[in-house]
Amino acid sequence: MTDTIAYFTESESVDAVTARVGERTDPRISLVMNALVTHLHAFIKDVELTQAEWALAVEFLTKTGQMCDGNRQEFILLSDVLGVSMLVDAINNRRPAGATENTVLGPFHVDGVPEYEMGTNISKDGGKETCLFQGIVTDLGGKPLEGARIDVWSDNEDGFYDVQQPGIQPHNNNRGVFVTGPDGLYWFEGIKPVSYPIPNDGPVGQLLGNLGRHPYRPAHMHFIVSAPGFETVITHTFVAGDTYLKSDAVFGVKKTLIAEYTQTPDGDTRWQSTFDFIMTPDT
Ligand code: BEZ
Ligand code: FE
Repeated sequence: MTDTIAYFTESESVDAVTARVGERTDPRISLVMNALVTHLHAFIKDVELTQAEWALAVEFLTKTGQMCDGNRQEFILLSDVLGVSMLVDAINNRRPAGATENTVLGPFHVDGVPEYEMGTNISKDGGKETCLFQGIVTDLGGKPLEGARIDVWSDNEDGFYDVQQPGIQPHNNNRGVFVTGPDGLYWFEGIKPVSYPIPNDGPVGQLLGNLGRHPYRPAHMHFIVSAPGFETVITHTFVAGDTYLKSDAVFGVKKTLIAEYTQTPDGDTRWQSTFDFIMTPDT
């Protein structure tokens, strides 16, 4: 700790705070915290934050914390709608051209879901717009990957995940795990997902409203694809043509993740969507 700045002044506010960091502090912690203080003070000076605005911010963050429990993470939702989740994901998952891109995980993934035979129908509540999901998991050179684990989940036709409606939807509705054979192929039945609002009954929903933003996500199927020796891909396939593709509440859409969902000759409520996963080697 240095003692060159003894007293706090508006012009030397950053130095007054950062000078207090102890010399034995972990270097990464001091780098991150000093940058945080620098940007935070610059922001407050830039907007000349009023006392009332500061109090409102404290109240907002307090309510955000109070909304969190084992099932609801309002702080992650806040990070999502501010584009922070997608930015952290982008920085930490830079991949070569052609490799499948990541997107936001979201709060509705469940661990320990059953592994099913290829072709199983994961829609247990009789969704009408059925969809065959299929494709291949390969490395960057197009070689099929055996033993790739594909963990999938989607909303039902009313726009809710099973975990949002316990006792209403069947347990593990629209979710399952599939493992590829030597040909790297996957296929399973589900429903064509529908767009839905992110949970908006808390402070984050209020914030979106105050900003004139809607809470909707474009329709998507979630995937976590993992294979030994390869980076795990956490992603979605988005339904081409969805109204909200260009205004996703959490900024999760990437052009390469938009998938065609086509009607099969079997009837107008029967769909199929083909999407291949191209995996990057672990570094
Ligand atoms: C989701 O896609 O399930 C999701 C992602 C971010 C926030 C809320 C929901
Ligand atoms: Fe989702």
